[in-house]
Amino acid sequence: MKITKICCIGAGYVGGPTMAIIAQKCPQIQVAVVDLNEERIAAWNDEDVNNIPIYEPGLSEIVQEARGRNLFFSTEVDAAIDAADMIFISVNTPTKTYGKGKGMAADLKYIELCARQIARVSKSNKIVVEKSTLPVRTAEAIKSILDNTGNGVQFQILSNPEFLAEGTAVQDLLAPDRILIGGDTNEEGQIAIKALFDVYANWVPQDKILTTNVWSSELSKLTANAFLAQRISSINAMSELCEKTGADVNEVARAIGMDSRIGPKFLKASVGFGGSCFQKDILNLVYIAKSYGLNEVADYWEQVIIMNDHQKRRFSGNIVKTLYNTVSDKKITFLGWAFKKDTNDTRESAAIYVADDLINENAKIAVYDPKVSHKKVLADLDYLQTRDADENAESVLSFENPYEACSGAHAVAILTEWDEFVAYDWQKIYDAMQKPAFVFDGRNILNAVELEKIGFVYQAIGS
Ligand code: NAD
Ligand code: UDX
Repeated sequence: MKITKICCIGAGYVGGPTMAIIAQKCPQIQVAVVDLNEERIAAWNDEDVNNIPIYEPGLSEIVQEARGRNLFFSTEVDAAIDAADMIFISVNTPTKTYGKGKGMAADLKYIELCARQIARVSKSNKIVVEKSTLPVRTAEAIKSILDNTGNGVQFQILSNPEFLAEGTAVQDLLAPDRILIGGDTNEEGQIAIKALFDVYANWVPQDKILTTNVWSSELSKLTANAFLAQRISSINAMSELCEKTGADVNEVARAIGMDSRIGPKFLKASVGFGGSCFQKDILNLVYIAKSYGLNEVADYWEQVIIMNDHQKRRFSGNIVKTLYNTVSDKKITFLGWAFKKDTNDTRESAAIYVADDLINENAKIAVYDPKVSHKKVLADLDYLQTRDADENAESVLSFENPYEACSGAHAVAILTEWDEFVAYDWQKIYDAMQKPAFVFDGRNILNAVELEKIGFVYQAIGS
């Protein structure tokens, strides 16, 4: 079976970049990316390709190349479903904010809406691909919805979780560590797996395309994120012990990372992990384990989140303590608001929680982030509902220029590891700050010796 028309429902951080790469690498396939969000689709179609809604290094060039040729962005969801042989579901699966499983379980309402829409619209057989991250056994629910439409169309459901990381999405998609495809073990399932396999084989070496049963594939995605996040919480736990004992967490990470069984990646101590995936997926894993009565399994993974919350709170607490136990009316500058460098995404960014704590202490926060707007900063704080929007607006200002953001500040806190922060003229920043001038480096990117020579009181994580 040869795929010639793909539809992707959801034009977000996963759907947009993933489909752009498929379109670039498979010019023989027509790719339609559809979304209900008109503003987002308009931005994907913006004449100036630099205005696409997602910032990822290298992405705008790829969109430029394929858009209008075999890559299309639209709000016409029904038409795209109808035309496609293969439909990717790439909608958001946030943590539930209501009802049973509130604050833990994945909210599958958008997934179910997609399944019902596919069932309603389809007039020919389709392969439906779960690209979103889903609880194990979701394919069963999707199948039940699709198989009960009564219009005689055959559906095959595949699980094809996405492992890209934001900020490196293009690189991750062009040269993935692996592609995972889960499908039914029967003959129709194997044909569907082969069809998706052949799409990826246009650019991914075949030995990197792994096929499994559906449940293994669904669960592997949650497992991968849990393991990655666990490494960060593990090194962050050690960072606190380092601070008490005179050990240096960077040295410890280097020493253990040279053990080939441990490996050097994902051992960077930080103010805490953020992003839309780790917390949501671990909470979901905890919920699933609990729902099977596996309380020890649930508790084990929940500790990763507890440690991460502690790390964020410890960072803000340390700022208050170091600034003589009061930050009231003090200007504290945040360099960075995004949850990591090279992205404009701020979901679950540690910066939001650190700012929230400091605003509770009546601090005045000044933000500079090369890719995040003031509107976004305020929206992130308002979303927490700690205080009303007017109070947030009075407590936080954003700046276009980092030197202006730092001018007159009592302290500078590094919340995101943007490369440009390292290259700043730190003497100039120091000269314009209140004295003593404090730097709290939540990413361990600055040079302690140089900063201390200038006169800063410098504090990093874990040393
Ligand atoms: P996102 O919020 O950026 O995008 C989802 C899009 O789906 C939104 O634009 C929304 O308007 C659209 N949508 C929702 N319901 C719809 C419907 N019924 N019809 C049409 N459009 C609809 O989310 P994302 O970051 O791209 O994540 C999508 C999924 O991929 C999630 O399950 C996430 O866990 C997973 N994932 C994300 C990443 C990441 O780095 N962001 C990485 C791997 C996996
Ligand atoms: C993650 C997974 O890496 C990716 O495979 C999955 O598809 C989606 O979730 P993402 O959240 O985009 O990707 O970025 P990632 O690089 O994993 O970083 C997540 C958070 O952990 C960031 O806040 C980052 O700064 C932090 N981090 C990462 C650390 O604090 N230390 C590290 O060593 C690595």
